[in-house]
Amino acid sequence: MSNALDSSPEAAIDACMADVRDLLARHGVTEECLRAIGERLRELARTPGLIPDDELTAMHGSDSTATVLRSEGTDAPTLVLAKFSPLSETPVHDHNTWAAACVVSGRDRYRHWERRDDASDDAHADVRPLYEKELGPGEIVTWLDPPHDIHSQQGIGGPVWELILFGKNAMALPRHYFDPATGAVRVAMPQ
Ligand SMILES: [Fe+2]
Repeated sequence: MSNALDSSPEAAIDACMADVRDLLARHGVTEECLRAIGERLRELARTPGLIPDDELTAMHGSDSTATVLRSEGTDAPTLVLAKFSPLSETPVHDHNTWAAACVVSGRDRYRHWERRDDASDDAHADVRPLYEKELGPGEIVTWLDPPHDIHSQQGIGGPVWELILFGKNAMALPRHYFDPATGAVRVAMPQ
């Protein structure tokens, strides 16, 4: 779907975002649509020079990093390039939005969590692992809008790089961080 005559990262991102807009306009936010967006990210992931060595900001208080490659607005589709460290798992967190993610390089231990309580207490939650999967290059994971957007991630044997297409600019919005052991919940900007 992308223009093969111009394979620059910028042009490849432009083409991907146009296709994402088209997929969302035609199908809305469904599991099938998010899967199709993930497959479109797989095509984008093959773009030479996509992963910059700089411009990365700290995330989750570890050496995991993330950078916004393109955002169409705070409440609009936003493409992020993320690196998840093998040294520690990210905190269990949400994003207040749906997303599709595709591994560019490395391997990811992705854990999806479920909130079991009625979410009436802002400071306490009962979150438990729902499923876990290992993702290699080209493999995809998706999640729907809250309350289905709670997860944690960790590189396996080295850092894992991923393209993540969020429904909103998740890097500019506060998110919930959950402590499964104590039930504590805190709201904070990405860290
Ligand atoms: Fe996340």
